[in-house]
Formats: sequence, structure tokens, C-alpha cells
Amino acid sequence: MREPLTVLGLESSCDDTAAAVVRRGQVMSSVVIGQGGLHDAFGGVVPEIAARAHAEKLDVAVAQALREAGLALDEIDAIAVTSGPGLIGGVLAGVMCAKGLAAATGLPLIGVNHLAGHALTPRLTDGLAYPYLMLLVSGGHCQFLIVRGPQEFTRLGGTIDDAPGEAFDKAARLMGLPQPGGPSIEAAATAGDPRRFALPRPLLDRDDCNLSFSGLKTAVLRQRDALVAECGGLRRADRADLCAGFQAAVCDVLADRMRRALRLYMGENPSAPAVAVAGGVAANMAIRARLEAVAQEAGARFTAPPLRLCTDNAAMIAHAGIELFDAGVRDDMTLSARPRWPLDQSQAPLIGSGRKGAKA
Ligand code: KG4
Ligand code: ZN
Repeated sequence: MREPLTVLGLESSCDDTAAAVVRRGQVMSSVVIGQGGLHDAFGGVVPEIAARAHAEKLDVAVAQALREAGLALDEIDAIAVTSGPGLIGGVLAGVMCAKGLAAATGLPLIGVNHLAGHALTPRLTDGLAYPYLMLLVSGGHCQFLIVRGPQEFTRLGGTIDDAPGEAFDKAARLMGLPQPGGPSIEAAATAGDPRRFALPRPLLDRDDCNLSFSGLKTAVLRQRDALVAECGGLRRADRADLCAGFQAAVCDVLADRMRRALRLYMGENPSAPAVAVAGGVAANMAIRARLEAVAQEAGARFTAPPLRLCTDNAAMIAHAGIELFDAGVRDDMTLSARPRWPLDQSQAPLIGSGRKGAKA
């Protein structure tokens, strides 16, 4: 029987300031402080503004996480912090805060890869056994991983340009729909005809697990311009059809790539085959249903952690910290913030960076 281990996690790699307390498998608190409208006027996250907001809010988030968990700092066993990849100013703010806490308390300090945090979440929420296949799909990430251990990942492929959430957001903007684009497009698509506009399915002929979404976004732009030239604007039905067509194209691309990734994963004969998805785009019911069907076809279990643990949060960082602690990982005051930190160092870097910064 392993010791109960209680870890305080910090996350500040993008535009959410988060702190959480996790005790082996149990989320005791998870605080996420967004940056509200701070970046709205700029069309994307402004790194300097984000970093300053993190520096102002990290101690607030930590105090709240401890309070909600009903614990004092001296009842914590270790401090885990996202030390990359992400927007460097924000990551630095988190790392400095964690170092301060570790120096003041003498607690062990553990640097966590943000992507590993996402990738290990199904172990916290569903107790998945290694190895499982993971698809990360959000506004900042898109990659297929075989997760073999807390520090052992095989990246099968990823986006070579935009992340899918980013494509949803840009396509929504083109059609005059509110942000975030994913939920707006999903809602509009329910009344649309996905077959009216012929939109591309980029890279489907390629014999790998890479994806591309920027051509699809350009095709939406062309269709919109054609409709505006022809009818003077987008009618409600045009918008619904374009949304349905766009969503169907994303579904087809993700399902096809998932099928390929599953073939590679199942080829290893895992004893308890499982597929997990995480990230904001996994909230899309049409996408989720398609991915679930593909997993079932292959005889694999399908899981998607609840949305609050699927999107950026610190419980995933605390949980990854527990797994790393068990593996003997300890950092010290030399821990540095890394803007880039691929999970699978054996693979060539992906070009895609995402609206929220490079996270290959
Ligand atoms: O994981 P997340 O909250 O943040 C990061 O990107 O890190 O994901 C946000 C992204 C946004 O781009 C948003 O448009 C997309 O997830 N999203 C969706 C849906 N809900 C959120 N995309 C498609 N369908 C949805 N229902
Ligand atoms: Zn993330």
C-alpha cells in the first residue's frame, strides 16, 4: 500500500492561472482563474499581459486551493508546477512561485510538462492502465500520443498548422459568430446541411497521423466570400450549412487520423486497449461520437475526462506530480522554464504552434 501523498499543483502556461490540491486519485480542490477580457482586443493571448496577470493571481489561486481543500501548507507533501511548454513569461511566473513555496517550506519541487498533465489526466479520472492512446484536441494542442508512463510517450502525429479549436474559432469569426467558435459552430450546425458545400479534408491521402486545418479555414473564407458576392451576405441557412459542412470535415479528418493511430497502437497488442481524448474540442458531441465509434470499431474502451479536467487546470499538474514523485523525480532551485518541451524527443518538431503559443 502506497503512502497517501498530497500535492499542490500550479499551472500558468497560457491564459488560465490555476492551483489545485490532489491526494492520490482524489481532487481535493481545483481553482482556475481566467484572464477574462484582458486579451479580447488583440485577437489572441498577449504573452506580456498574460504573464503579469499570472504574477498577480498565483498567490490568490494557491490560497484558495488550500482553503477549499481544507489544508494548510504544512499538510502538503510536494509542490508540482508546469515548467513548460507554453508562453515563457507565464511559465516563469509559476516556476518562481513554486520555488518560493518550496524554499519557504522545504517541500520537494517537481517540474511538470503541461502536455504530460493533459495526457495523464485519464489515469486520475478513469484509472486507465498504461499504455493507452491519447488524442489532445484544443485551441492550442493537437496530437496523438501512446502514453506508456509518466515520462514515456510516443507521438504518432499532430497538426502541421492550426490546432482544431483554433480552426473552429477562426471559422466562426469568418462567419460572424461569437467566440469561442467551437460551441457557436456546433449550435449553428445542428440546423445545417453538411453536404451543401464541398469543403476539403486535408492530408487524408497521407500515410501518417498528421493533420492540417488551415486549408479548411481558407475554404470557409472562400465560400463565405462567394456567398457575400452572390447574395450580399450570409443568410441564417447559409451560415448553418457552412457550419455543418465545416464540422463534418473536422469530424472526418479526426476520425480518419484516429483510425490510423489506433491501428499502430493496437498493433502493439495492449492488454486493456483504451482511447482517451482531452481538450476543449472534445466537448463537441459530433466529434466525440465519431471518435467513440472509431474506438469501438477497434475494440478499445473510450473515455473523455470531464471538461473541467480536460481543459487547462492544475489538478492535472498535481496528479502528474504524484506520478513523477513515485518515479523518484525531484527538481531543485535550478528548475527552469521551457518554452518548448516535446513529450517525445525522438520525433522531429511539429511546425504547428497554435493561437496560444508553441506547444509541440
Ligand atoms: O482546452 P481549451 O479550453 O483551451 C486551450 O485551447 O488550451 O480549448 C478551447 C478550444 C477553443 O478553441 C474552443 O473553440 C474549442 O476548444 N471548443 C470547441 C467546443 N467547445 C470548445 N470546439 C468545438 N466544439 C465545441 N463544442
Ligand atoms: Zn493545455
